Amino acid sequence: MLSHLRAMPFMRSGRVSASPSHTAIGLVMLAALAVPARSETPIRYVGSARVWILSSGEFSYVLGVNERGELQSIYWGQHIWRDQDWTAAKSHPQWDGVDPSTNTTPEEYPGWGGLRFFEPCLKATLGGGVRDVVLKYASHEIHGDELVVTMKDIGGGLTVDLRYRVYPEGIISKHSVIRNSSSAVATIESAQSGAWLLPAADGYHLSYLSGRWGEETLYTREEIHRGSKVIESRRGSTSNQFNPWFAIDGPEPASEENGAVWFGALGWSGSWKIVVEQTPHRDLRITGGYNDFDFYYPLRPGESLTTPPFYAGFTSHGFGEASRLLHRFELARILPRSSAAHPRPVLYNSWEATGFAVDEPGQSALAEKAAQIGVERFVMDDGWFGARDSSRAGLGDWTPNPKKFPNGLKPLIDNVKRLGMDFGLWVEPEMVNPDSALYRAHPDWVLNFPGRPRSEARNQLVLNLSRDDVKEYVFAALDRLVSENAIAFLKWDLNRNFSEPGWPEAPTAEQRTIWVRHVNNYYEVIDRLRAKHPKLEIESCASGGGRVDLGVLTRTEEVWPSDNTDAFDRLSIQYGYSHAYTPKTMMAWVTDVPSMDGRSESLQYRFLVAMMGSLGIGSNLTKWSPDEFRIASKMIAAYKNIRSTVQEGALYRLLAPGKGPLTASQYVAPDGNQAVLFAFLHAQQYGRLAPAIRLRGLDEHALYRVQAIEGRLREESGAISGAYLMNRGLTPMLRGEFDAAAFLIERVNQ
Ligand code: GLA
Repeated sequence: MLSHLRAMPFMRSGRVSASPSHTAIGLVMLAALAVPARSETPIRYVGSARVWILSSGEFSYVLGVNERGELQSIYWGQHIWRDQDWTAAKSHPQWDGVDPSTNTTPEEYPGWGGLRFFEPCLKATLGGGVRDVVLKYASHEIHGDELVVTMKDIGGGLTVDLRYRVYPEGIISKHSVIRNSSSAVATIESAQSGAWLLPAADGYHLSYLSGRWGEETLYTREEIHRGSKVIESRRGSTSNQFNPWFAIDGPEPASEENGAVWFGALGWSGSWKIVVEQTPHRDLRITGGYNDFDFYYPLRPGESLTTPPFYAGFTSHGFGEASRLLHRFELARILPRSSAAHPRPVLYNSWEATGFAVDEPGQSALAEKAAQIGVERFVMDDGWFGARDSSRAGLGDWTPNPKKFPNGLKPLIDNVKRLGMDFGLWVEPEMVNPDSALYRAHPDWVLNFPGRPRSEARNQLVLNLSRDDVKEYVFAALDRLVSENAIAFLKWDLNRNFSEPGWPEAPTAEQRTIWVRHVNNYYEVIDRLRAKHPKLEIESCASGGGRVDLGVLTRTEEVWPSDNTDAFDRLSIQYGYSHAYTPKTMMAWVTDVPSMDGRSESLQYRFLVAMMGSLGIGSNLTKWSPDEFRIASKMIAAYKNIRSTVQEGALYRLLAPGKGPLTASQYVAPDGNQAVLFAFLHAQQYGRLAPAIRLRGLDEHALYRVQAIEGRLREESGAISGAYLMNRGLTPMLRGEFDAAAFLIERVNQ
């Protein structure tokens, strides 16, 4: 890499300042160089034009300094191989006095200051009460795949490092580090990670994920009109209502496999905001970072605030490829390294079977049954600690309930291990029930405003994790649990959102930093715990899918996408989920019927839905018939054979739920030798045969053998070409209501 750097003189490594002589040297060198096809250097600087070119996967991202010294977004799209094509950034013309040039120019990281009226990336009150931030380019540094552009407020009060990183998987991230470079306190009132900009056009569409408890991550695509669409959380955590992911297509509409799609996601597990703003001039600005609602973050001289990473990418191959890029990126870069290489184990969870009524004999009985069908990890959910017989008491007291576990957790864990499984435990460390020893000892440890109500949700209050003593208590409680017991896995839950977010003991000016500090301390506790217990794995859960994002996924192996385990509903939740997150992270349980919305799909159907992610079982196994055990054992064995393809392969969403009678998804192993097709029929109309499903991602010249995991095909068995499978397709024999089938497609050695 270094020799490559030296061979390209206009591409600079190290700090560069905004000097004119530098520009002149760059011009001469630029003229002397004709750069052929695509350079492998991820970040190039064309000094003559003061332009940076970031290349990743299929796309180029270009920014530059305009004649006023503002950092301007120049391009985000299909890769452009010729660096010399880029000329210096030039501000856009004004549109009358009410829309001056500073407001029409696509600035990369605008402060709220001067004549700027769109969504700012940074709003602050500086010393002397100045509420005006105008950022100009100061210098930059390039270190391999990282670019830092330093911006300074014209009054010198704030210095902002815009940090870009180019990943080889076709993803770029940006975030900012905002430093108080004055001698007075500066208060940050909006701190965004950055903005992604697209040029003026009509016909852009926005895709996003929204929902509520029990139906998270539902996919919506809608036309963008002038004005702002805000997706956000003001709840202290990521939220069940909106997920911090977006995709834009247009002006020509993209489909699953074709068309231009720009996409991105925030890595933050607290209150966040993404504003998709089409300006009156039809430019598109997608600004994201900390939610500025109730945001107030004072910086003493020299202090800084770091914003979360905002990841983005581009593809010309539709929404399917956009997801596959994100999935590959998550597998390679986001998920904790220690566990990224292993397949997720088949898990059992007690929640739907036993609720709060857990005890040693009951859990041991479930564990015996779980081991018989091939479960690899046994997780005891809520109810094992303190005075926890319902949601009314016990949260905060992380010691085993003496009536339910008179000899502690050891006998149960020993039993689980004897059965060949490892052991996991449910915790909800950021919460407390008022009816708990912890709250009685420390009523001041919760978020509150003195003299105001402390609103309970699910009978619990939020611990003020911003306080160092609370953070240390939480760390110590978890550390003790994991040190004293052979715990391989924690399901870390969070079952309510913040309210009355006061921190009365802190100086008034610092009380609102809880929105950032709580999350950073939550991250810190996990990081310390994992550093001390390197084999520990964690699932992020928050009343279902309330804390699913690229921030938490750098620290946890998997998430619980929704408390809704009805298999048919789950198809839509999983479909939306898969746009942003790899199936490897998607815990999916088989549970008993009738489901929470009264439907009774077959056990095979429920298994096949759950086998499209990381498989878990949540049924009451003590009530299962021998037939159910037989089906479950067969399905779990089949899952173990395909799980690396499902968890690490390329996902093709062949037929979306809700658009017709069939839903289908296909997974192709990274080496292309194995693929799996899942197909679901919702309801059949008499005499209408389910259509053939055309596969994707295979080698048209290769031969494949198709075998049923469940169900039958209209096609004859034997070897079939990739060309046939992708063009003619397979026709599963599905009938009636809620029928399901799955097929294993394996390359035949020729
Ligand atoms: C939340 C989780 C559930 C379960 C319960 C336990 O609702 O989403 O999976 O763990 O808490 O109280």
